[in-house]
Amino acid sequence: MSSFASSTSGVTRMSSVTRLFALLLLLGCTSGQQITNNDVQQQQQLDILSPPTPASPTTQAERQFRVMYEWNVLDFAFATEDERSRALYSGRYIPKNVLISDCKPHTNRLYLTIPRMLPGVPATLGYVVRPENNGRTDPEIVPYPSWEMNERGNCSALQFVQGIAVDKHGIMWVVDSGRTETLSRGADHVVCPPKLLLLDLKRNGTVLLRYQFPKSVVPPGNNYLNKVVVDDAYGGFAYITDNSGADPGIVVFSRRLVRSWKVRENNSMRAARNSVRFAVNGTELNFSIHIDSIALGPYYNPNLESDDGHDPLLGSQNYERNVYYCPLSSHHIYSLPASLLRDPEFNARATPRDILEAVIDYGEKSSQTDGMIMDNQGVLYYGLLGEHAIARWDTYKPFTPKNQQIVARDPTFIQWVDSMGFDHEGYLYVTINRLHNFVAGRLNPLEVNFRILRGKTAGLSYVETPDNLFNSDAKYLYGDGSGTGESFVDNGLRFQSYEGTTPASSRLASAGIFGSAGRSSSAAAGPGAIGSIALLSLLVFVVSTIGLAG
Ligand SMILES: *[C@@H]1O[C@H](CO)[C@@H](O)[C@H](O)[C@H]1NC(C)=O
Ligand SMILES: *[C@@H]1O[C@H](CO)[C@@H](O)[C@H](O)[C@H]1NC(C)=O
Ligand SMILES: *[C@@H]1O[C@H](CO)[C@@H](O)[C@H](O)[C@H]1NC(C)=O
Ligand SMILES: *[C@@H]1O[C@H](CO)[C@@H](O)[C@H](O)[C@H]1NC(C)=O
Ligand SMILES: *[C@@H]1O[C@H](CO)[C@@H](O)[C@H](O)[C@H]1NC(C)=O
Repeated sequence: MSSFASSTSGVTRMSSVTRLFALLLLLGCTSGQQITNNDVQQQQQLDILSPPTPASPTTQAERQFRVMYEWNVLDFAFATEDERSRALYSGRYIPKNVLISDCKPHTNRLYLTIPRMLPGVPATLGYVVRPENNGRTDPEIVPYPSWEMNERGNCSALQFVQGIAVDKHGIMWVVDSGRTETLSRGADHVVCPPKLLLLDLKRNGTVLLRYQFPKSVVPPGNNYLNKVVVDDAYGGFAYITDNSGADPGIVVFSRRLVRSWKVRENNSMRAARNSVRFAVNGTELNFSIHIDSIALGPYYNPNLESDDGHDPLLGSQNYERNVYYCPLSSHHIYSLPASLLRDPEFNARATPRDILEAVIDYGEKSSQTDGMIMDNQGVLYYGLLGEHAIARWDTYKPFTPKNQQIVARDPTFIQWVDSMGFDHEGYLYVTINRLHNFVAGRLNPLEVNFRILRGKTAGLSYVETPDNLFNSDAKYLYGDGSGTGESFVDNGLRFQSYEGTTPASSRLASAGIFGSAGRSSSAAAGPGAIGSIALLSLLVFVVSTIGLAG
């Protein structure tokens, strides 16, 4: 590890120029092409385009995380009560075996993944309507795109979905690792080929692309495709973490090449021996879990300076994006340049040393992380499992303890942050699923096991990028799906703005806060806090800064 660069020192600068060049060649630019003065000018204009951002949360009530939904056990929108009874009776639906993992809001829905870790999970992808679900705080999950597409044992349908991403065109990238009952390993578990589906959320989930991973990249039955981020450069890429014990790495998929490959790096992508033991809510865990969380940084990085002002290509590096990741069993956050992941030829010939040299190790955090997400301002939000906390780090600043700010901490409400998602207003949604209890078979149906929390931020999802040379050039853009022959179905979904907060319910309480600098922890009971004071008094608040300033 000592050979890692300690910060964003730009050690990989020259090699990323080479790689960028190689990629331009690969994707069909002519070899003699030079970037002209016009291009440089255009580039400078693009630089000043800033991404759309919501107004900074001003009141404490806006910043405070609140419970949107909470469930003891999860239920589904069966067509009839009869059908639910039959599913319960046949074992197709076993309530205590159902767990939610990823959450991604889009328009007026909150999409959820339900990985089939145990038997009795009738659907693996679904949604609830947000923010109000007919007043219910424990809404039934509606299978998406349909019950049929969630049929267990049918390899054309979805089998085991854990990670999803929604790009800025409203297309959902669904990763299906293809096999079921990963925890119980029942004799009749399903093994289907792992696949990636692109569903158009604006057209009732019309399948735009169905891609089956080759065995050499993602072996059926012997993979654990976990989380995914999408990059809009060069026609679209997905970066997917595979934390299988056998062969962990980042699986890269190019929508334009319709091709995938895997990037492996043992030092930064495998569990660290000294990070496998930790405790959540007093439960001692011994988890050796490889690369798990992943996040994609913004394009423009003002920290990158060209050391040769005369080389026009150097400017292009300012469009580099970092792919941040960490093993679950690790205290470190690492990154690799997106341009390196995107280049299949480089990955085919690279030695382990070549890849290791491009890895940046930012340093240590105080606990292990499962869920994390980047906003479009370069601010990373991440869970700290052993701390029952959610933290933020402005990635333009060094990863020092001072710059790792805890924005919410609560030993009851924040037990295992599994995933995060942003909506179009800058609200950050967080899935809390008490995974430590679930995997140990200790889910208690008499208490709340699953929650969705939400707090307002001053950013949008990392997918909301400004136009630039790489995501707006027509030859790199992806198709709009019109060539698929499937008819357009307007499902009436609209972005809707809503005031205030959560469904009114005495069971809802605020969990943690986004404070402002210098505020004391007594700010916890600030205006707008709903829910019972008794619950509030349990909370431990840690105060920090949020916003664009600084
Ligand atoms: C499998 O699922 C696909 C997609 O939902 C569906 O079209 C097909 O009819 C199903 N096959 C069987 C045998 O049920
Ligand atoms: C564990 O969680 C329960 C309920 O969520 C809480 O009452 C209890 O105090 C927690 N225990 C520890 C050791 O944090
Ligand atoms: C943790 O798990 C590993 C194997 O999974 C085992 O070898 C080791 O003894 C365990 N450690 C403790 C302290 O339980
Ligand atoms: C990583 O480690 C595994 C097992 O320890 C080994 O088989 C593999 O060759 C290593 N890969 C690289 C790229 O170093
Ligand atoms: C599309 O979604 C709408 C609203 O959910 C529904 O009413 C309609 O039947 C759906 N159309 C198809 C073709 O599935």
